[in-house]
Amino acid sequence: MKPVTRRKFIASTGAGLLLPALPRLACAQDIAIEAKAAAVQLVPPEYGKTDVWAYDGSVPGTSLRLRQGERLRRTFINQLDQPSTIHWHGIRLENAMDGAAGFTQEAVPPGGRFLYDFIAKDAGTYWYHPHRNTLEQVSRGLAGPLIVEETEAPDVDDDLTLLIQDWRLDPDAQIVSDFANLHDMAHAGRIGNHLTVNGDQAWVRTAQTGQRLRLRIINTASDRILRLGGEGLAGYVMALDGMPLRQPEAFREIVLAPAQRADIFADIAAQPGETAHLTSIERQGTFSLAAFPVKGSTAKIARSAPGPLPPNPVATPRLEEARKLELVMEGGAMGQMASARMADGKTRSMRELIDQGMIWALNGTAGMTDQPLADLGLGENVRVRLVNRTAWPHAMHLHGHHFQEISDGTLGPLRDTILMMPREEREIGFVADNPGRWMFHCHMLSHQAAGMMSWVNVTS
Ligand code: C2O
Ligand code: CU
Repeated sequence: MKPVTRRKFIASTGAGLLLPALPRLACAQDIAIEAKAAAVQLVPPEYGKTDVWAYDGSVPGTSLRLRQGERLRRTFINQLDQPSTIHWHGIRLENAMDGAAGFTQEAVPPGGRFLYDFIAKDAGTYWYHPHRNTLEQVSRGLAGPLIVEETEAPDVDDDLTLLIQDWRLDPDAQIVSDFANLHDMAHAGRIGNHLTVNGDQAWVRTAQTGQRLRLRIINTASDRILRLGGEGLAGYVMALDGMPLRQPEAFREIVLAPAQRADIFADIAAQPGETAHLTSIERQGTFSLAAFPVKGSTAKIARSAPGPLPPNPVATPRLEEARKLELVMEGGAMGQMASARMADGKTRSMRELIDQGMIWALNGTAGMTDQPLADLGLGENVRVRLVNRTAWPHAMHLHGHHFQEISDGTLGPLRDTILMMPREEREIGFVADNPGRWMFHCHMLSHQAAGMMSWVNVTS
């Protein structure tokens, strides 16, 4: 008998064998998503593979794609040797599906499973990650894209997800496991030394002059703020944190804090033989994150500026009647925080806090407590003044809602994560229309781990 290659085997089985299998595969309950140890090639092959933790063994995890209004049903299976959960970042879902360990659900123990089941009511670019020991679990590779397609696809030639990860690797290409490093926690967090796009240090996709590419860029770095630019492409920022802008904006440079996303329509301007790039603009220079070598050009004539993507059904806050709250960030290196309360209600000096791994506080409290920042009525309009009294940037993320920045009485784009620069004060507004307990924390995971955690309670 001649050996049969896998490709031939699949081709020759035909519909007769494949079709009966389909209904079972399509049966949602059977679809699992597994967190487990794996080894992947993150660096040039001469350095060997890196041991990671990954969803379904790949970095990034399986790209989950569904249509707006569709249901996502996935059984999370935890094959790690520590508890975990999945949080669906940016999705306005039911509280019980939010994946906040010890808060909206019990952490899933090693070998355990949990069925996540929710409707994706907003189109856009989202992602998923663990919400237990998050700094370590994300830094070891657990992150994946969650793409919710518009019911009518926009006019683009390609739709590409670029999930960016920041790794701290040793000379053997292994992850440095200094997660509870006080110095990082008190400063800008765990900044890695190796960026990948879709798990690849040199991600490449051929393109044609005149093509319009939709780039869904996701910053899943634990702590690194990305400044992105383009070369050989002219683009439009279409959406931020999944939510369409009312009017697309010309793309020159964009800053993405940890957890933030941007949807960009990039028109390839580079000529055949040239290469267009998405770049990372850093102090040491400008680096290519994704390269688009141009082979040929499209027959089409250049497209005109795109109209906005269809809006998602998010309520607009009414500012006149909004309840006013304040969230003050304190602590960190050069922050002069003298003391803060902890979960047990006791006030501790900075030295005592550090002994407990706490370096930051929100409204005077370090770490999660059973006291919410506020009890909000369902449908209540809220405005929160964010006050950064620290010497460091923070990426404040609210679960279960999107908010809008308020400046000079006008509302900015919808976001789920806002970057606060040192000493900055900004204000956000939202409608508390999703009942449940929702975390509100810094998405610089080193800061979150060291105390920058809070929550709001929306009562129905
Ligand atoms: Cu992306 Cu509380 O998380
Ligand atoms: Cu922070």
